Amino acid sequence: MYILGIETSCDETGVAIYHSKQGLIHHCLYSQIAMHNQYGGIVPELASRDHIRKLIPLIDQCLQQSKLTKSDINGIAYTSGPGLVGALLVGASTAKSLAWSWGIPAIGVHHMEGHLLAPMLEENPPSFPFVALLISGGHTLLVEVKAIGDYQLLGESLDDAAGEAFDKAAKMLNLAYPGGPLLSKLAEQGNPERFKFPRPMTDRPGLDFSFSGLKTFTMNTLNNTEKTDQDRADVAFAFQHATAETLAIKCKRALKQTGLKRLVVAGGVSANTYIRETLIRMSHKERAEVFFPRPEFCTDNGAMIAFAGYQHILKQEPESLCIQAKPRWPINNLYS
Ligand code: KG4
Ligand code: ZN
Repeated sequence: MYILGIETSCDETGVAIYHSKQGLIHHCLYSQIAMHNQYGGIVPELASRDHIRKLIPLIDQCLQQSKLTKSDINGIAYTSGPGLVGALLVGASTAKSLAWSWGIPAIGVHHMEGHLLAPMLEENPPSFPFVALLISGGHTLLVEVKAIGDYQLLGESLDDAAGEAFDKAAKMLNLAYPGGPLLSKLAEQGNPERFKFPRPMTDRPGLDFSFSGLKTFTMNTLNNTEKTDQDRADVAFAFQHATAETLAIKCKRALKQTGLKRLVVAGGVSANTYIRETLIRMSHKERAEVFFPRPEFCTDNGAMIAFAGYQHILKQEPESLCIQAKPRWPINNLYS
């Protein structure tokens, strides 16, 4: 069975083909970053229009490069939420229209479930149950995962998502959009001894996060310097270090609370080498295993959507032809 996966929730158009026995066949990605960069962030209307322009050619390209035709495809998985409503509607309406004309089912996938399952595309996938830390531009979630579709939310960010905080801190440091990877690069030159930033919400029980205070702390610290290249690098280091440690403290707590010994880390921010190293160190100390997707599947992509869709397409009733986007959609009890 071949599943076509379509991702259009934000600023990346992703398409992939997954086969039930052979695994991932091929994936194609088009990033809108260069377009949004000139505005310093994502412009939702431009994102939708660009998905419209790029999606069908990308599907064609993915089929051709896989040496497949539309008649080989047995189902279409698309991101139905959460995300930008206009961008989601492009994916949903394209998926539903193609599925209808090709006479095959379409299934809407939760974007964060796609991230959560992305490490399963790797050679050494995690087995259930596990704790998942999902760190993206829009969400920061800690989830107890017992099986596919059985997700218990343990904690989440009460304000900014981790990626959003990275992007906002990067903007203060005069870095381009999206700032996460650039801030991380700048931090390599930082002096680890110079600033100590707080680890928000780690001094009280619970598994929720808050990153907006860290952002303010970044701004105040920066404003008390001359903003030389070294000052900026030192601030970047302190921000990244505090974020990594905060995530590690909460993950350790989640492993203890659930009694689980497996941690999955996914979403755009999980591409960050410093954060990966910090979480690997913590997991080794806790005698827990830790799993990440390969860096290109940390950020948005069609492969994770094709894979998540395949997990559900056999179990679920075919969707109606009604085209629906869910800009807000909790991950708890997705398929109950
Ligand atoms: O998962 P993702 O591609 O999109 C959403 O679902 O939001 O995550 C994008 C976020 C952006 O905030 C971006 O700055 C951040 O992930 N990001 C990083 C790195 N690579 C991507 N943040 C820190 N370090 C990185 N290397
Ligand atoms: Zn994402």
